[in-house]
Parts: sequence; structure tokens; C-alpha cells
Amino acid sequence: MNWFKVPGVVYTQEPFIKKVVAGGKSLCLVGYNGEVFALASRCPHAQEDISRGWCKDGKLVCPIHRFSYDLQTGRGSPGQNDFIHTYPVKIKTNEIYVGFNTWKENLINLFK
Ligand code: FES
Repeated sequence: MNWFKVPGVVYTQEPFIKKVVAGGKSLCLVGYNGEVFALASRCPHAQEDISRGWCKDGKLVCPIHRFSYDLQTGRGSPGQNDFIHTYPVKIKTNEIYVGFNTWKENLINLFK
């Protein structure tokens, strides 16, 4: 796994939702209940910028059609039959890092 620092964002306990770029990927970074989550920046339903949404009950809600996604797993709410990609997050001395699989790890995961 390769870890990339999220530039311009410092960890705090405060809730937030921000669109960021780390390691060349556009992400939606969410601070919720003191934890930080990294998700794809586009809603899988119709590609809206999901960082314009809000959090409710541990889910990120898209502002357009209100589909919602679990912050931990990325799983869509019942009936949606979809998911948003999530990425692991590490906090190191108030800096936030997001992990991306290497191409070899992605290839191995394809055959699991
Ligand atoms: S674009 Fe997000 S719910 Fe439709």
C-alpha cells in the first residue's frame, strides 16, 4: 500500500466534509465523530460531487437524489444496490494520509 499525505488539511475532532486531492486522486474527506474517512469524490449513482453532501447516522448523503453510503464500508443503503469506493486513512501527528493499493495489490484482489 502506498500512503499519500492530504495537503492543506490538519486533523481535528471537528466534523467536516472536503473535496481534496491526494496521490493524484480526487477524494471526499469526511471528519465524523472524531474519525476521518476517505471516499471517492463522485457519487456512484450519477457522478455528482458527493463532498457537497452531508453526514447522517454514519452515512454520507448525496445532495442530488439523497442516496447514502456507509462511511466505514462504502456500502449503499438498502435498495440502492451500489457502493462508493473507500480508502484507508492514517493520522500521524495531525497530518492525514490516505492509502492506495499498488497495481500488484489490485491485481491480486481481482483474483480473490
Ligand atoms: S447523483 Fe448522488 S444520489 Fe444521484
